[in-house]
Amino acid sequence: MNVAKKILRVGITYDLKKDFSHREDEPVDSLEEFDSEETIDAIRDVLQSDGHEVIKLGGGAGLIDRLRTSPVDIVFNIAEGIGGRNREAHIPALLEFLNIPYTGSDPLTLSLTLDKAMAKKVVRSEGIPTPGFKKVEKMEDLHGLDLRYPLFVKLCYEGSSKGVRLDSKISDPSSLSQKVKWLLETYGPPVLVEEFVSGPEFTVGILGNSNSSVLGVMQIEIKGSPPDEAIYSLEVKREWEKRVSYHCPPPISSRLLKNIEEVALRAYRALDCRDVSRVDIRIGGDGIPYFLEVNPLPGLSSVYGDLPIMAGRMGWEYSRLVKTIFHHALKRYGISG
Ligand SMILES: Nc1ncnc2c1ncn2[C@@H]1O[C@H](COP(=O)(O)OP(=O)(O)O)[C@@H](O)[C@H]1O
Ligand SMILES: [Mg+2]
Repeated sequence: MNVAKKILRVGITYDLKKDFSHREDEPVDSLEEFDSEETIDAIRDVLQSDGHEVIKLGGGAGLIDRLRTSPVDIVFNIAEGIGGRNREAHIPALLEFLNIPYTGSDPLTLSLTLDKAMAKKVVRSEGIPTPGFKKVEKMEDLHGLDLRYPLFVKLCYEGSSKGVRLDSKISDPSSLSQKVKWLLETYGPPVLVEEFVSGPEFTVGILGNSNSSVLGVMQIEIKGSPPDEAIYSLEVKREWEKRVSYHCPPPISSRLLKNIEEVALRAYRALDCRDVSRVDIRIGGDGIPYFLEVNPLPGLSSVYGDLPIMAGRMGWEYSRLVKTIFHHALKRYGISG
């Protein structure tokens, strides 16, 4: 039987790098998470080729009016949001309030996963391995720190390696104070101090809902750095073409691959992720895969996004990736399209 496909009005919500100007007094990476117009246009083209009418809605407070003047059936959301640990949840919460379906995780998951310490608490409570950590609001919180060196310091509510530099691995208390002070002064609290996981790094793409499954596992090798010095830092991400080798599928034993997939899937489910996410994992000296963080709004640049790169290596065209995310959302809502 040939079921007529419904043409949907699909809005895309996003925040563009070019809509913000970088102020002199801001850190160099303050706009790092925002998207480029090319990425939005690429998503639009895929959704149009899937037979839908697509409206670029953007983000920010103006979105409230745009949703009234341009009503949509569903939103493809990739907006990173502005300010605070709930920023990624702002638009999904608004859409829920207005009863508009949208792709991806809900506000609770988006806030929970943006706060790396909170995500780790939930993941740990499910028995999923994750490095020991302390959330630091002020310098005094470092007193009596009960963690084993080397340590790693990063921002608690940031992504895209904002605040992560090649010297974020810490081997002694004085560099710990120095680095935490720099992060607190440059970006503001809180900072996450974590035990360093020394082995190779992987990122795992996961798609779906009740039958969520692994799209691929990609090893991130930083050229010229042994695994225990390799950091997927801001400097490295910005020069990824020169400094990173991506291996997908990775050249590892099927047993380790299975363990990595299992940790990633368990974390995805523990945090109630929907439709799509990318989970970052490193292997400890004990051979165990440790959960670092999950990205429920993974970058979708067809050129430099880790998930699209992984999809490509797994033989998926970019359009298949975007359509699959979209169709998982449609299915969740019981919308045919
Ligand atoms: N505990 C850790 N041990 C070793 N490396 C880490 C640790 N935490 C983060 N990193 C390194 O820093 C990078 C960025 O950290 P991550 O937690 O993924 O934050 P972001 O949201 O910025 O991607 C990771 O890809 C990894 O290379
Ligand atoms: Mg990461």
